[in-house]
Amino acid sequence: MEENIIRNVEIEDDGILDNTIRPSVLEEYIGQQDVKENIKIFIEAAKLRKESLDHVLLYGPPGLGKTTLAYIIANEMGTNIKTASGPSIEKSGDLAAILSTLEAGDVLFIDEIHRIPKFIEEILYPAMEDFSLDIIIGGEGSSRSIKIDLPPFTLVGATTRAGDLTSPLRDRFGIIAKLQFYTEDELRQIILRTARVLDTEIEDDAAIELARRSRGTPRIANRLLKRVRDFALVEGNGIIDKEITNHALDRLKVDKFGLDDVDRELLLTIIKKFNGGPVGVEAISSSIGEEVATIEDVYEPYLLQRGLLKRTNRGRVVTELGYQVLGIKYSKN
Ligand SMILES: Nc1ncnc2c1ncn2[C@@H]1O[C@H](COP(=O)(O)OP(=O)(O)OP(=O)(O)O)[C@@H](O)[C@H]1O
Ligand SMILES: [Mg+2]
Repeated sequence: MEENIIRNVEIEDDGILDNTIRPSVLEEYIGQQDVKENIKIFIEAAKLRKESLDHVLLYGPPGLGKTTLAYIIANEMGTNIKTASGPSIEKSGDLAAILSTLEAGDVLFIDEIHRIPKFIEEILYPAMEDFSLDIIIGGEGSSRSIKIDLPPFTLVGATTRAGDLTSPLRDRFGIIAKLQFYTEDELRQIILRTARVLDTEIEDDAAIELARRSRGTPRIANRLLKRVRDFALVEGNGIIDKEITNHALDRLKVDKFGLDDVDRELLLTIIKKFNGGPVGVEAISSSIGEEVATIEDVYEPYLLQRGLLKRTNRGRVVTELGYQVLGIKYSKN
């Protein structure tokens, strides 16, 4: 059980501390250069025209900064942000209620937007396109539809699965941005920034080591930093150096490549049970006991990006590099 308490890959937010370490202006949002530069221009143009910003869709694996960017957009536009999440919208009335609270220029952030039920999603179409809300009142024979004007607003949708959005919804976003995994150097900068916010001293080579082992993901980098900081405080002198970092990360079972238990299990299963692949994701899922969606959204993107895993039309295959990383001899058959 113990190993399960701290997972390298985490989906939930960290709560209060998370908010204090979240950058609030574009200037402090590290990496994602292309996305950042474009959004900066669109925000500036919208402000010059005194219009609301066009709707924005942010997609990419968990923990790369979608929610953070949504808040930054509202902040840079100088507007309020209202938030909702796909799974919490169960009835068309839920969405209508949220839309009717919007004020001119507001950002409406809908997290996990792919999980809005399709019949409710249709309410969004006229709302996004014409800022109008069609609601049906009455029922059973006497129902009629009325049109309510909404103030101009910006919908910022976030999703880990852009492929799950219907095309009518996707097409109504004027700005679509895919977030990428972060480079080691970007993660190093994020770690140094967070350490500053947390008032913790960290040596540069320790920050590099942490960055290398953070799975390309700021959320993981920040989480590992906080845990290493605990080790430094209790077992060291409070300063995070490379030695205490390596010690802490080993204790947390984060390996040299930043892979966690599930990553390793996934690769190992394909190698040991399926001869290295190709194997379908469903078979992997039942073998390791993780849902297909979790494998596809949380684990695979990084393994694919690092070139440890390959997707072929016959299924997943562990690459030679994948074998190497696990210390297993590679053979073609
Ligand atoms: N570009 C960045 N610069 C600095 N810190 C960042 C950046 N992106 C993310 N972070 C940090 O990483 C943490 C996770 O980011 P965030 O919650 O925005 O991810 P997310 O993409 O919304 O994840 P999820 O898909 O799980 O909702 C935040 O607390 C933030 O502090
Ligand atoms: Mg989020």
